[in-house]
Amino acid sequence: MQQTHKLRLGVNIDHVATIRNARGGGHPDPLRAARLAVEAGADGITAHLREDRRHIGDEDIHRLVDDIDVPLNLEMAATDEMLEIALRHKPHACCLVPEKREEITTEGGLDAAAGHNHLAPFVRDLIDAKIRVSLFIDPHPVQLAVAKALGAPVVELHTGAYCDAVHEGRSDDAASELSRLREAAQTGAELGLEVHAGHGIGYVTVGAIAEIPQLVELNIGHFLVGEAIFGGLDSAIRRMRALMDQARNKITGQASA
Ligand code: PXP
Repeated sequence: MQQTHKLRLGVNIDHVATIRNARGGGHPDPLRAARLAVEAGADGITAHLREDRRHIGDEDIHRLVDDIDVPLNLEMAATDEMLEIALRHKPHACCLVPEKREEITTEGGLDAAAGHNHLAPFVRDLIDAKIRVSLFIDPHPVQLAVAKALGAPVVELHTGAYCDAVHEGRSDDAASELSRLREAAQTGAELGLEVHAGHGIGYVTVGAIAEIPQLVELNIGHFLVGEAIFGGLDSAIRRMRALMDQARNKITGQASA
C-alpha cells in the first residue's frame, strides 16, 4: 500500500511585505501575518529574500528567525550574499530558487542539471550548517536525478504550469502537467528525496495536488494573501488547510478501502 504522509502547509508571507512596501512604514507586518498563519494551521512559514528586496527584507528574516515557533523556510538564490545571510540566521530550511531581476515571480524551476557545478558548494555549505536544503525544480526526471546527485534531501516541484493551465481552461495541458507532477513526485520519493510542491496554488488547484500521495509539504503564498483581502488571512488559511486535508482523506480512504 502507498504510504501517505501528512501534508504540511507552508505559508509564504512575501506579499504581506509587498503591500507594506507599497507605502513604506511597518503595516501590514509580515511577522504578525506569520503568527496568525501559525494559529490558523500553518506548519511552517516561507519567505523569499530577493536580491532587490522587493518584498521581504533583511530585518524581516531576522525577526522571523527570532520570533516564530514553527520551521522557517528561506527561499533564496544561490549567491554568496544569500549564503552568508542563511549561514548567519540558520533557518530550518533553505529552498534554492532561480532568480531574475526582471521577473514578476519565480518563473520556472532551477536548471539543476546545467547549474550543477554552481549549486554544489551552496548545497554542501548549507547542509554542513545543518540547514535542510531544497531545490525548486520543474517536475522533470533529469532535475530530480541531479538534485539527488547534489545531495539535496528535499525538492520542491514547481506547480505553476499546472495551475496556469487550469486557470486558462487548457484542460489537456492541465491533465498532462498534473501527470508530470505525479510522476515526478513518485520518482523523487523512489530516489529517497522528500518532495514538496508550490507556486500558483489556490482553492481550485490544491485538491488535485494534495492528492499526490508522495507530497509532504505545499508552499502557498500569493493566493492566500489575495484571498485575505476578502475574508481575512485566518479564514483563507483554514479553508486551504481543510481542502488539503479533504484531499488527503480521500486518498487515504481509497487506499484502505
Ligand atoms: N515555492 C517557491 C519556491 C516559490 O518561489 C514561491 C513563490 O515565491 C512559492 C512556493 C509560492 O508561490 P505562490 O506565491 O504563487 O503561492
